[in-house]
Amino acid sequence: MITKKVLIFGASGQIGRYCIRRLVRNNYKVIAVTRNIHQKGYILKTQAPIGYLDIEQTSILDEERINQLISNVDVCINLIGILFEKGKTDTFYKIHTEFPDRISKICKQKNVDLIHVSALALDNAKDSKYAKSKINGEIKVRENFDRATIIKPSIIFSVDDKLSTRFMSLLSLFPIFPLYYNGATKFTPIHAADVAELIFNVISKEIISKDIEAIGPEILTFKEIIQILSKCIKKKRLLIPMPLFLAKISSIFFQLFPNPLLTLDQLRLLKYDSIQSENGITNFDIGCPSKLYFEESVLKYSFNYAEGGQFSIKKNEKE
Ligand SMILES: NC(=O)c1ccc[n+]([C@@H]2O[C@H](COP(=O)([O-])OP(=O)(O)OC[C@H]3O[C@@H](n4cnc5c(N)ncnc54)[C@H](OP(=O)(O)O)[C@@H]3O)[C@@H](O)[C@H]2O)c1
Repeated sequence: MITKKVLIFGASGQIGRYCIRRLVRNNYKVIAVTRNIHQKGYILKTQAPIGYLDIEQTSILDEERINQLISNVDVCINLIGILFEKGKTDTFYKIHTEFPDRISKICKQKNVDLIHVSALALDNAKDSKYAKSKINGEIKVRENFDRATIIKPSIIFSVDDKLSTRFMSLLSLFPIFPLYYNGATKFTPIHAADVAELIFNVISKEIISKDIEAIGPEILTFKEIIQILSKCIKKKRLLIPMPLFLAKISSIFFQLFPNPLLTLDQLRLLKYDSIQSENGITNFDIGCPSKLYFEESVLKYSFNYAEGGQFSIKKNEKE
């Protein structure tokens, strides 16, 4: 029996998929919004049993359709986010500020609970366009709808991420790896399943009007993360601190590619620790502790990137 209807923007992404699976297990019906049903339909359709999932193709600019979709649900979750800008439409401002502004006004008007996912520890990163746009999005959501809950995760990992999987691909290819800011920046990596559990708890316990920092069970530096990933794929790699001017030049070069490894804006963001703030409320405080540790979890899928694995360059060696 369906108990609640939940609309998810950005449902085809990493957190979205874990969220769908967690919510439908509890008899919630999910309405997953995507920009392109032909590209993302196959990913989305396999996340839930028949009857528990509807897929909607809609542009985030189509206010009338978004209005209709929000009118028919109990909860709306916003998971849309980008790491770099593309052209004039996919800008940080449009995605991280304007869109949350728009949906929080509609949710308030329709009296539909809103969970908005932003990011952790952005306040110091004033020199990053990504961080500024996310902060402004949070401000708009708070101004428009005081019942909204804002979730601020540190870096998120899983078999479906663009973090551990990408780094393992690079580590399997190259004998040396650059450490930005000496690899000293601190993170508290949280597994996508723990973020989905938090979102499920916010809905089921009807937690409203809170800012929740989503943190993992441990703090790791960038260097420790890279060391763990190298260990997971059984490669000894030379980790070399990269001078900032070289890092800047390489990120300007990477920015020329359609799916850049690192942009100048991401390099700026990497300078700031992404850990719990001094007075922040976390998932642990609301009775939803993260359970999954980085190394233990990555070991469950890292074999794909180790020698002989399906994503390793030496996969055919034994054939
Ligand atoms: N991953 C992390 O480490 C991390 C850390 C902190 C905060 N966050 C935040 O958490 C949220 C979810 O993260 P995630 O890792 O699940 O993201 P993700 O895997 O990149 O997925 C985001 C989804 O947003 C949609 N999207 C992307 N660009 C869009 C655009 N221009 N217009 C409309 N929709 C667009 C895409 O859906 P369709 O292609 O189906 O339209 C995509 O599946 C984001 O707000 C992100 O900033 C993530």
